[in-house]
Amino acid sequence: MKRSPTVAVIDFGSQTAQLIARRVRDLGVYSELIPWNAPAEQLAQAQAYILSGGPASIYEEDAPTLPEIVLSSGKPVLGICYGMQALAATLGGHVAAATAREFGHTPVILTADAPLLSGLPRQMDVWMSHSDHVDALPTGWQALGASRHDSIAIMGDIAQRRYGLQFHPEVQHTRQGLDILRNFLFDVAELEADWTPANFIAEMTAEIRERVGGDRVLLGLSGGVDSSVVAALVHRAVGEQLTCVFVDHGMMRLGEADEVFETFQQAHGIHLVGVSASELFLSDLQGVTDPEEKRRRIGHRFVRVFEAEAARLAAETQDAPYRFLAQGTLYPDVIESAASGREQAARTIKTHHNVGGLPEDIEFELLEPLRYLFKDEVRRVGLALGLHERIVWRHPFPGPGLAIRILGEVTWPRLETLRQADAIVIQELESAGLYRATSQAFAVLLPVRSVGVMGDYRTYGNVVAIRVVTTDDFMTADWAKLPYDLLGRMANRIVNEVDGVNRVVYDITSKPPATIEWE
Ligand code: XMP
Repeated sequence: MKRSPTVAVIDFGSQTAQLIARRVRDLGVYSELIPWNAPAEQLAQAQAYILSGGPASIYEEDAPTLPEIVLSSGKPVLGICYGMQALAATLGGHVAAATAREFGHTPVILTADAPLLSGLPRQMDVWMSHSDHVDALPTGWQALGASRHDSIAIMGDIAQRRYGLQFHPEVQHTRQGLDILRNFLFDVAELEADWTPANFIAEMTAEIRERVGGDRVLLGLSGGVDSSVVAALVHRAVGEQLTCVFVDHGMMRLGEADEVFETFQQAHGIHLVGVSASELFLSDLQGVTDPEEKRRRIGHRFVRVFEAEAARLAAETQDAPYRFLAQGTLYPDVIESAASGREQAARTIKTHHNVGGLPEDIEFELLEPLRYLFKDEVRRVGLALGLHERIVWRHPFPGPGLAIRILGEVTWPRLETLRQADAIVIQELESAGLYRATSQAFAVLLPVRSVGVMGDYRTYGNVVAIRVVTTDDFMTADWAKLPYDLLGRMANRIVNEVDGVNRVVYDITSKPPATIEWE
């Protein structure tokens, strides 16, 4: 049985709605984002409601409305920004368009005591982003805090355990934001903090066992965080019934295939089948220089190799068929597709979860045990399952691997060159203690040669670019301001240790306008 959310965050379309659910979970309470117009039964099980902000104006035609169950249930409610306005408007108060738009840091003065505000300083610095505000309270409500324009920044109906905040407690800029959410969860709604990795693992393994029964599960293991955690979790649930398939397309980093085998087969006793298919992939890539064509060919070949392996395994075990395909879909993908009304789309297999991407018509039932987790929760679950920190904190690696980091044609010698240069970048970053402080780091082999001098000889060699970025979401990224001496060590070692490379450059563009990968 899927866990129902203890706190339903009703999504009115704010950019930070997802953040509310994350913060609530960080405080140990399971929370999900539910669209404001979802059927009431999706909201019925929740023990408290948080209403998100949103871009609309409350009296606008077609503006999102408060689901009826929120008030009829009598359960505790916290409305944020638009959520507060929706509460006020529904309960007979009034919302006015602001004369002064409040955006950014704003001081708020507390004007009365309430359980939501216990332990907070009298004046707080909060983050506002709105143009409308509540200018008449509903009956039974009182103002609890005011902002500089004397508008109502906090309102409450203490007896009914309902509150409204004109500002955003979920963003980091509101310093006491987490305290306010904590007060709401534990003092106002009196919830229990039972959302822990251990509880998730216990519930999810029980659920997997029940669903899988005596059948088998297949998983494409890439060695990345998501598929690794799925492997460990499903293995904990059904042991030998899980088979992992690792396709080595030859575009892996140095020692990566061995590491996957050591970790999963040797350390965790997981049944892991390796398919060495480098030659097939490389012959597909012969003469190809266009980045999207590389991706397409690798994706295609990956599907064929995976299907052939699945068929081979199925023929071997006719008595116990492979009914399920496990994959590492995460909650942000689910939210994204649900929000755009494409819930079904989230069920198709995403490229980045399965190395090359699998076909949509594959004849398996999907098993997606991480479907309700955020990335940081996946890491915590991974650690609780005993996965090594190296795996849990691993930077993402693109499905097509080094093929999209070799500009121009991909050949085995060029792969070997890049593998060595890339390994040096990672080793030096790790020894400087900066691997965790960066989000993605790698080397790129450029399709140009440049002149150099080594000893008494003129050289005409390859150029390697180093790319290291920091980012929260990979949608935007900043280039990492690595110490010069670290960059110097990387460059020195690359030109000295990697044959044929005589020049190293550092990529100092952010995303946008550049992307993280070069292709
Ligand atoms: P870009 O280069 O678009 O990359 O800034 C954003 C993130 O996506 C990864 N990436 C890929 N992952 N298949 C993948 O599985 C791909 O074809 C692919 N292209 C980019 C990239 O490594 C970064 O983390």
